[in-house]
Amino acid sequence: MKIVITCKLPHEVIEPLQAKYDVVMWEKEGEPMERARLLHEIEEAHGLFTNVADQIDAELLEKATNLKVISTMAVGFDNIDVETAKQKGIVIGHTPGVLTEATADLTFALLMATGRRIVEGMDVLRQDEWKSWAPFFLTGQEIYGKTIGIIGMGRIGLGVARRAKGFSMNILYHNRSHNKEAEETLGATYCKLDDLLTQADYVVLLAPSTKDTYKMMGKEQFAKMKNSAIFINTSRGTNVDEEALYHALEAGDIYAAGLDVFDPEPISSSHPLLRLRNVTALPHIGSAAIETRLEMARLACENLVNGLEDKPLVHEVKA
Ligand code: DGY
Repeated sequence: MKIVITCKLPHEVIEPLQAKYDVVMWEKEGEPMERARLLHEIEEAHGLFTNVADQIDAELLEKATNLKVISTMAVGFDNIDVETAKQKGIVIGHTPGVLTEATADLTFALLMATGRRIVEGMDVLRQDEWKSWAPFFLTGQEIYGKTIGIIGMGRIGLGVARRAKGFSMNILYHNRSHNKEAEETLGATYCKLDDLLTQADYVVLLAPSTKDTYKMMGKEQFAKMKNSAIFINTSRGTNVDEEALYHALEAGDIYAAGLDVFDPEPISSSHPLLRLRNVTALPHIGSAAIETRLEMARLACENLVNGLEDKPLVHEVKA
């Protein structure tokens, strides 16, 4: 059977696959497989190892006449046309659980970096703009004891809430349903979205990308936030109206934003958001810790092999 891997993976990860299958792997580090090549390779493939950088859409799936399994090295699968794949009897695997703590770490790091203007501080040094200690030079927002509002209280939301508890933050959250663990062990308070937006000093978006969450943070939502509030997004760029965010930041309607995700990705270096002093931006590195990425790759391989061998996947996308 033939497997197509759309990104360069370490030797130790692909060796067991090479022993059993005919493996085609994209060799360019840091770049996804070219679309034309993927469209060509998929025609013969039985298994596809993918990630958030590929569009696994109807056009591609139409060509995939032998495909049994799609395994994405990610928890999110909004880049995959799940409905078309299911209609064609293709199973889909993903990697929840193993990236929770790394993504929660990065989310909290971004919150702190944005609130305390850490990247701006580094820029000041690099550009030789540090003249002297001064009373209000590079002052930001406090974090300890402030109110955090988490939109999306899943595994990662809970991980962020645990970190917030360590900073004695008052934790508000909004979710499709109540999260007992967050309420009972962390003292988190469930809120309507509007109440969360008006009360939180830090609004952290961790909702999955669905048709219901598409641009859920727009002009109206940013207008409800405090002028001193900070917006953090480590979920998906599609959850945010980026033009509305730009205007809210430029007008001072909100204080700052920390963004790890964009729509589309990669964001262009000339994008207006990147020109704003009060934006701290990262290239979608929420889960980018070495141990985490190795574990994601290992789990994605297990899903792939199970799918090829008609065994239940470790984590199947059921939607
Ligand atoms: C995911 O897993 O969905 C992230 O966005 C990439 O780690």
